[in-house]
Amino acid sequence: MARRRKPVTTRKPPAVVIVGFGRVGGAIARALKVAKWPLAVLPRSQDSVRRAATSGIRLADHDDLKAAQLCLLAVPDAQVQNAAELVLEDLGPSTALVHLSGALTLAAFGQTAIESKRALGSFHPLAAISDPSDPLEGHTAALAATTPTLLASLQQLARVLEMETIEVPESGRAAYHAGAVLSAGLLVSLADVAVSSLQHAGLEREQALRALLPLMNSALRGLSARGFSKGLTGPVVRGDVGVVQAHLDALPAELGSLYRLLSRRTLALVGESLPAETKLALQRILA
Ligand SMILES: NC(=O)c1ccc[n+]([C@@H]2O[C@H](COP(=O)([O-])OP(=O)(O)OC[C@H]3O[C@@H](n4cnc5c(N)ncnc54)[C@H](OP(=O)(O)O)[C@@H]3O)[C@@H](O)[C@H]2O)c1
Repeated sequence: MARRRKPVTTRKPPAVVIVGFGRVGGAIARALKVAKWPLAVLPRSQDSVRRAATSGIRLADHDDLKAAQLCLLAVPDAQVQNAAELVLEDLGPSTALVHLSGALTLAAFGQTAIESKRALGSFHPLAAISDPSDPLEGHTAALAATTPTLLASLQQLARVLEMETIEVPESGRAAYHAGAVLSAGLLVSLADVAVSSLQHAGLEREQALRALLPLMNSALRGLSARGFSKGLTGPVVRGDVGVVQAHLDALPAELGSLYRLLSRRTLALVGESLPAETKLALQRILA
């Protein structure tokens, strides 16, 4: 997966139609409107139609679909093929179809789309968008495209959204997306595990989350500023075998096994800097 530097160009912005006006469709539409790109959206529900109108974003008509250079399918993963089939007949012959899914390959558009010979692509924002007002800028988009022209258009899209880009090979899609989920949704699940550990110590859930969120943010800041080994803190890093054992004794079995798994990962990152006997003692209690 090569990280690409964004080339500086003044290419004319491509005409874009976004199918679906949910969280990501809404976020991209909002940013493209600010950038004054030619844009129209195709929402499904009346509620989404109303929200598009309130945001001053034009609804796509037949001509928009015909003239679009990029048709972004901002629909749930399971609806990508349906949404592609819904618009295929109305799109121009050179309109590229692009999904926003991290997990799906380019086969997800279905056989009819593949046989239409148009360019197919994916633009997956590595961002947790829980509301259309959430920012895309500063995040990375993972790109895939069947033609260099579409790849250039997706890079142009990333540039206007102020996003970095990486390219993900089709064969690595599942591993790539597993990593994305581990870093975002499962980080939230890890926060839930940490909160329940504080609840185990007698704290209220809300109080525990309020106390832990700044701590989690400081850990990410450390990682960002100093990298894995130097950004890590905690008893494994300090070689404090007694504290690690006390944690394991205090935690319920289910949380203990997760604690062991993650601590083994920490030990692999910092183990070389610990005395050999400390590393061995930690390996034993974390096995
Ligand atoms: N949310 C994230 O953090 C995130 C991050 C990266 C990538 N993605 C990807 O972005 C895509 C969209 O996700 P999302 O989170 O934005 O979902 P979402 O908020 O649920 O929005 C999906 C929209 O798709 C529309 N829709 C559903 N079925 C449709 C169909 N058959 N035909 C046309 N429109 C249909 C719905 O429109 P109505 O409202 O009009 O019913 C809905 O607004 C997915 O592929 C997802 O994997 C999401």
